[in-house]
Amino acid sequence: MAQQKIITDNKVVMNSLDNISFKALFSMKDKGIVDTLGGIIQSGKESNIFWGTDVKGNPIIVKIYLISSNSFNNMLNYIKGDPRFLGISSNKRKVIFEWCKKEFSNLSKCRNVGMDVPEPLYFKNNVLVMEPIISEDRYALPLSSTPLNNPKDFFEKLKHQMKLMLKKARLIHADFSEFNILVKHTDNIQTPVIIDFGQAVLPEHPRAAFFLNRDLKNICLFFNKRYDMSLDPKKLLEELKA
Ligand SMILES: Nc1ncnc2c1ncn2[C@@H]1O[C@H](COP(=O)(O)OP(=O)(O)OP(=O)(O)O)[C@@H](O)[C@H]1O
Ligand SMILES: [Mg+2]
Repeated sequence: MAQQKIITDNKVVMNSLDNISFKALFSMKDKGIVDTLGGIIQSGKESNIFWGTDVKGNPIIVKIYLISSNSFNNMLNYIKGDPRFLGISSNKRKVIFEWCKKEFSNLSKCRNVGMDVPEPLYFKNNVLVMEPIISEDRYALPLSSTPLNNPKDFFEKLKHQMKLMLKKARLIHADFSEFNILVKHTDNIQTPVIIDFGQAVLPEHPRAAFFLNRDLKNICLFFNKRYDMSLDPKKLLEELKA
């Protein structure tokens, strides 16, 4: 039966899913978007990330936003004030669905301006399917747990991505840190892939300047501490806006 095939007998997977997520997954199963669901890559406060495969056997990432998440009020802070989500109700389930839709649309915007982010493949309700970022035959790890061979070069590439995000995609990430940047290795060259765009806002958001300054401060602090660099958030802001 389709249900048995998609879910596997992995108890951790089974227990982490609620009825709403099951329904969304089964409709994706009918479309061939999600065929099998494997283990959890990461279980966070707001979502669980699984690996899986589509009907052709291609690897996929399935991000399932938790309906029981306690982060609902925090989500509202980012959605309210976003001109794209005027009139959104404060119904918890609907807000989580909007959040998932927002991540899909933010990822699409980034892809459209040539940023290296996971390709968003499909979303329904609280479930988002995207391209996996693979690094030398395994899932790419975050910057927080990957030593860099050439931090300066990596930061220059990251700066280029940040510039595209701000000036072309017109997005402020709003949770920018070493945990939301994956390190992709290809032929010994490391490149940044920014992820986790659910909270990203437009420059018109009333708290956009606050979020942008916080993002820049966080990333400068990380590189300065870990790699003994001397990055200045204000200077970085000028460079990004230039
Ligand atoms: N497209 C992807 N390819 C490979 N790994 C991924 C991908 N998306 C997410 N991950 C893995 O899952 C982790 C969590 O993803 P993400 O940051 O999107 O979720 P989250 O719910 O915001 O988690 P957290 O609350 O920890 O920030 C990432 O750090 C990464 O290890
Ligand atoms: Mg994250």
